[in-house]
Amino acid sequence: MKDKKVALVTGAMGGIGTAICHKMAEDGYHVLATHRPGKEDSATSWIDSEAFPANLVEPLALDVCDTADCDQVLKKVMEDFGRIDVLVNNAGITRDTTFKRMNFAQWNDVINTNLNSLFNVTQPLFQAMCEQGNGRIINITSINGLKGQFGQANYAAAKAGMIGFTKSLALESARFGVTVNAVAPGYTATPMVSSLKEEVLDSIKVQIPQRRLATPVEIAKSISYLASEDAAYITGETLNINGGQYMH
Ligand code: CAA
Repeated sequence: MKDKKVALVTGAMGGIGTAICHKMAEDGYHVLATHRPGKEDSATSWIDSEAFPANLVEPLALDVCDTADCDQVLKKVMEDFGRIDVLVNNAGITRDTTFKRMNFAQWNDVINTNLNSLFNVTQPLFQAMCEQGNGRIINITSINGLKGQFGQANYAAAKAGMIGFTKSLALESARFGVTVNAVAPGYTATPMVSSLKEEVLDSIKVQIPQRRLATPVEIAKSISYLASEDAAYITGETLNINGGQYMH
């Protein structure tokens, strides 16, 4: 196992996360696929049902909102594997509601899961990645972190924060051969988007010039590219994949 490159993907069991795990396994990585502690049974059935290439995907219980848990689990990962080549910070949730109605728990849950997780997960791995002299950190932000979205003050704030983090960390890691980039998907065919009310989703689709949602595979392919040697000179960038819905 130690001869393989290692990728760690948070929020792995979601729509985009699953596609990323498939793509990274196809690319030959040993993939550590994180899920919330307590979801071990779902993780096992997910691994069974996805039939990942060459059994290269391994579940890992990690609470991305818990600084101490991340520190402990990820230090153990470094001891076991000796390296992390690619870190994909993908874990994210929504608690959509107008700001007028938003309570602090809805604000805080989203900021914790989508933004504070970047600190919790990246901090225990960052120094080791720099010492390796090579690495890729890829943060999954959102079109809505760039354009804002009615009903998503919490989510848009967290996703915009991820972009500032990406650019700053890219500056700090550039001389060590570690690139840090963000991918900003538009509306993608995942359970998160399909849980929107039909009329809301219809009103969004008409704002997309390509008149369709992204597929998770389209998003995963961009992560595969950013993780590759071919993307060595790209850092601090945010790659928009949104069918033309937002250009800036
Ligand atoms: N712009 C302006 N006004 C809007 C609006 C918009 N985009 N959307 C709704 N409104 C208005 C409505 O017209 C309505 O006005 P009136 O009261 O005058 O009739 C009012 O706001 C309330 O609208 P709703 O009936 O929809 O209110 P609600 O409380 O049932 O729902 C909401 C509010 C939860 C925010 C709902 O509108 C919603 O789900 N919006 C979509 C949010 C969204 O896009 N989430 C993305 C999830 S996927 C994701 O996050 C992945 C990713 O990265 C892209």
